[in-house]
Amino acid sequence: MESEVRELLGEQLKDAYSAEKQALRCMQKTLKMASAPALREGIQLHIEQTQVQIERVEQAMEKLEIRPGRKVCEAMRGLIEEATHEIGEQDGKGPILDLVIVAGMQRIEHYEIAAYGTDIALAKALGENELVELLTLTLEEEKQTDLKLTEVTEQHIMAAAMGADEAAEEPAGGKKPAPARRKSA
Ligand SMILES: [Fe+2]
Repeated sequence: MESEVRELLGEQLKDAYSAEKQALRCMQKTLKMASAPALREGIQLHIEQTQVQIERVEQAMEKLEIRPGRKVCEAMRGLIEEATHEIGEQDGKGPILDLVIVAGMQRIEHYEIAAYGTDIALAKALGENELVELLTLTLEEEKQTDLKLTEVTEQHIMAAAMGADEAAEEPAGGKKPAPARRKSA
């Protein structure tokens, strides 16, 4: 029934609203931990995009005459909890922490891509063309962010991360590395 589909879209938008607000706070914290300038720029850009995306969800909810309410997106909460935990496991800033940040962020972006894809399909079915347009802008930004994170990783983080690993294995004083010790069983 159309009214039920409309109600479902409303619930999905409440979820997206909570998800975006959580993601925004997470990125604001994460920005301080990233090292690679390209990654910092990418996070900063997506913080700004997300602020607009939150406004878009607000507009979409207004259009459907619903309020955000207190709905909490539990999936986003879980994704952030996991990312935060993994970031906390790292010793300090650097390329490896940057990779951990990207891993968390890409999971978050994919969740958002999935959610907006569904929301757009529901809005289309309901003939809510304004909502389709609004949410498509957001969906494209999420996809671009995901691609950008891969690009930044490949071009600005990975070489340093692989290098950092070698540097860490090299003994101090530049001596030849001792043969790797094998654990006897
Ligand atoms: Fe996003």
